[in-house]
Amino acid sequence: MENVRFGVVGLGNMGSAHAKNIIENNIKGAILTAVCDILPDRLESFENVKKFTDYKKMLSSGVVDAVIVATPHYLHPEIAVCAFENNVNVLSEKPSGVYTKQIKKMNEAAKIAGKAFSIMFNQRTTPIYKKARELFLSGVIGEPKRFVWLITNWYRTQKYYDSGDWRGSYKGEGGGVLMNQAPHNLDIWQWIFGMPKSISANIYCGKYHNISVEDEAEIFAEYENGATAVFITSTGEYPGTNRLEISGDKGKMVLENNKIMLYTANICERDFCFSSNEEYAIPEISKQTFEFKDEVHGHTAILQNFTNNILFGEPLIVDGLDGINEAQLCNASYMSAWTNKRIDLPIDDEEFYSILQEQIEKESCKKTVKKTNNPSGEYSERWNVKW
Ligand SMILES: NC(=O)c1ccc[n+]([C@@H]2O[C@H](COP(=O)([O-])OP(=O)(O)OC[C@H]3O[C@@H](n4cnc5c(N)ncnc54)[C@H](O)[C@@H]3O)[C@@H](O)[C@H]2O)c1
Repeated sequence: MENVRFGVVGLGNMGSAHAKNIIENNIKGAILTAVCDILPDRLESFENVKKFTDYKKMLSSGVVDAVIVATPHYLHPEIAVCAFENNVNVLSEKPSGVYTKQIKKMNEAAKIAGKAFSIMFNQRTTPIYKKARELFLSGVIGEPKRFVWLITNWYRTQKYYDSGDWRGSYKGEGGGVLMNQAPHNLDIWQWIFGMPKSISANIYCGKYHNISVEDEAEIFAEYENGATAVFITSTGEYPGTNRLEISGDKGKMVLENNKIMLYTANICERDFCFSSNEEYAIPEISKQTFEFKDEVHGHTAILQNFTNNILFGEPLIVDGLDGINEAQLCNASYMSAWTNKRIDLPIDDEEFYSILQEQIEKESCKKTVKKTNNPSGEYSERWNVKW
């Protein structure tokens, strides 16, 4: 195969930007051959591509080798499964699905078809997160003790929630900030620090907006080795903060303002604690700063990697299976908040699905949908990592 023939399903904010990125030849080895949206006016501006209003027809047409799924989240799994059944490779927008049960089905279908399956967790390509992961996995800060992420700079206005009927409700998108904005951070949490054994969470629904889902959340997690994690996020706070601190028994790293401050001790703190003869002694610490200036374009990097995987077998930056871990963190947090209990991981997929249905039944969405203009076809600055 010389070029991967791409189709895009869902030509809203995100899908129209991916389509434009391919049309402008920013992805080597990728060409756009089809677009699909249930709204026919979203297809109008495209030239020299096949146009569909039914994704099933697009996926069985034989004109695409790969599909980018950029519809509201609930639809990602059913479109992906249909694609795999038609031997089409899938790059799903994040989150790959709303609940683990449907994400597992996507992965099973990908395995049966033997096709590439990746997720647009574009923040994984951000140099600072890559470096933090490399440092953490190198063991430089020792045995993990704590992971604390204050990621409250996902600010959104009411106009944003009003811009689509699917936004801001359990029925439309399955959750709030943990389901829509913070999946990037939940993914990076598990990608760097690994999966916890249990989760407790508080979520605050409609605290700052007229929506029925959470616009603020606090998660507390425990690990097998005794380490803990705290994760706080919000769409209702301005100015917000992006500060990640990871500590271990030989040091810590702090990510803030696009810098990593790495503190390393000359001795493991656990050994020092029990070997020192002085009451108020402290280990010797050295400090190193890593500064990051050049931002890669994350969406382009993931699209290129997915294309290279299909053409040359380049390892995927994000494997479809990784979506299960991200969804576990999100789903477990909801379960904990709804039941007021600590939830052990992995979660019970059926139980989560069933309590999600209860939330959908009892929600009453207070917002009024005000249609916005057609999407710009540009990547928005608000999707980048902010400090
Ligand atoms: N990776 C990122 O940085 C990033 C940024 C923004 C959005 N997203 C994700 O992209 C997805 C879409 O978000 P958005 O902001 O573009 O939403 P949007 O509402 O602007 O666009 C969704 C589009 O899907 C279309 N659609 C709905 N049902 C369809 C169907 N059955 N078949 C074909 N088209 C259908 C709608 O008509 C609409 O044009 C979400 O899952 C979101 O989380 C990711």
